[in-house]
Amino acid sequence: MERINRIWHHKEYQKCLVSIGEWERERKFCRHSAEHFLDVARLAYVLALENGLDIEKELIYGAALLHDIGRHLQYEQGISHEEAGAHIAERILKDCGFTGEESGEILAAIKGHRTKQGGLDLPGILYRADKLSRNCFCCPAEAECNWAAEKKNLSIRY
Ligand SMILES: [Fe+2]
Ligand SMILES: [Fe+2]
Repeated sequence: MERINRIWHHKEYQKCLVSIGEWERERKFCRHSAEHFLDVARLAYVLALENGLDIEKELIYGAALLHDIGRHLQYEQGISHEEAGAHIAERILKDCGFTGEESGEILAAIKGHRTKQGGLDLPGILYRADKLSRNCFCCPAEAECNWAAEKKNLSIRY
């Protein structure tokens, strides 16, 4: 997990986390914090193990830690955070020792994380883990949240 820890300690990564936290300080709906990134990483890894998928752990954690890293640019400039995040992630992945091929797989998963993905592959488990990570069953803002009822996690599954 050496490269994952390099991502975590990357200057630009930490800068983005701080900026997202500042933008979301008063947000009552789901935030995009380090806890969310790690919840998604661990859930995606569980999904990979449960389904016997042959996807490298560092690819799963890399995609999860970086999937919302452009969120502050969505608040600042109104651009989609999956596109903004992919640009940031590309630089960070390169600095942290991921090959062009590995980076391409992670970036595709990041770009697709808001579009329904049903496959048993990296985009598929990232999409599902992102949705599963939200604890709607104990969220005080659940009634006001605009997620469709069938998307909400109203019971514990993972
Ligand atoms: Fe997102
Ligand atoms: Fe997310």
